[in-house]
Amino acid sequence: MNAAEDLYADQAIKFLEMLWGEGYLSPGGLDEIKRLLTGMDVRGKHVLDIGCGSGGIAVGLANEFNAQRVTGIDVEKPVVEAARRRVENAGLSDIIEIKLVSPGPFPFEDESFDIVFSKDSIIHIADKEMLAKQAYRVLRPGGWFVASDWLISHDDEPSQAMKDYIKQEGLEFRMASPGRYESALEKAGFSNISLTNRNPWYLQTAKQELSELEDTRRAEFVAEVGEAYLLDNIKTWKAMLEVLASGEHCPHHFRGQKTA
Ligand SMILES: C[S@@+](CC[C@H](N)C(=O)[O-])C[C@H]1O[C@@H](n2cnc3c(N)ncnc32)[C@H](O)[C@@H]1O
Repeated sequence: MNAAEDLYADQAIKFLEMLWGEGYLSPGGLDEIKRLLTGMDVRGKHVLDIGCGSGGIAVGLANEFNAQRVTGIDVEKPVVEAARRRVENAGLSDIIEIKLVSPGPFPFEDESFDIVFSKDSIIHIADKEMLAKQAYRVLRPGGWFVASDWLISHDDEPSQAMKDYIKQEGLEFRMASPGRYESALEKAGFSNISLTNRNPWYLQTAKQELSELEDTRRAEFVAEVGEAYLLDNIKTWKAMLEVLASGEHCPHHFRGQKTA
């Protein structure tokens, strides 16, 4: 049974994986992970994956990027259980550990990881400054924090369209601006910081996703999650497309390096 407060309960996992791929609770699949990790040598490294979801990325980091070890952390039991099953089925239990953690400081010693990674999960963490400090603390000198996340273009009051979208998502988003992320990284001590706006890519991708939901894969989704659940998500995608089109919803890639 899922706890009532789980945002990514079994039906949400099923729906998102149908749309985004087995083990993925965010868009873009392995191609997007490759773009995010461009120029990063993951071979032989110990990677922390913050908000690992149902584990597809942790498996990819081991199988496709040859990470020596991956530690995935998440705060929700259904995704942690799904990730553990995926790791076991992939025969990667010796390489990948999935931990259920409480929100807040990471339960790891200083300088435990070579790379701190995250894909579209920091949106759920309100205190970006604490998060950046924790990432810095657990990285070894010279290590990189590399992440993708869903940002808002400014720190003022969100537009009505953005408020409506966030409410419709119902996932307790804690969005912040690129400027806030950059200053959180700087204050934590990171150097070589860069941010890349992925809005143009996701705007196009989300249009394609909506046409799958409404048209080309509609029957498949109705059979798996039911008409009402699908219609609610079509509403979400329409609300999201409005704020993607305005640029207010601006997914980013960002990275920063701990001083060697
Ligand atoms: C959009 S999903 C992305 C999952 C995965 N990274 C992926 O791309 O498939 C966001 C994940 O962040 C997790 N999450 C929420 N709050 C968190 C926190 N404070 N620390 C770690 N993970 C968190 C959620 O449980 C969920 O699994």
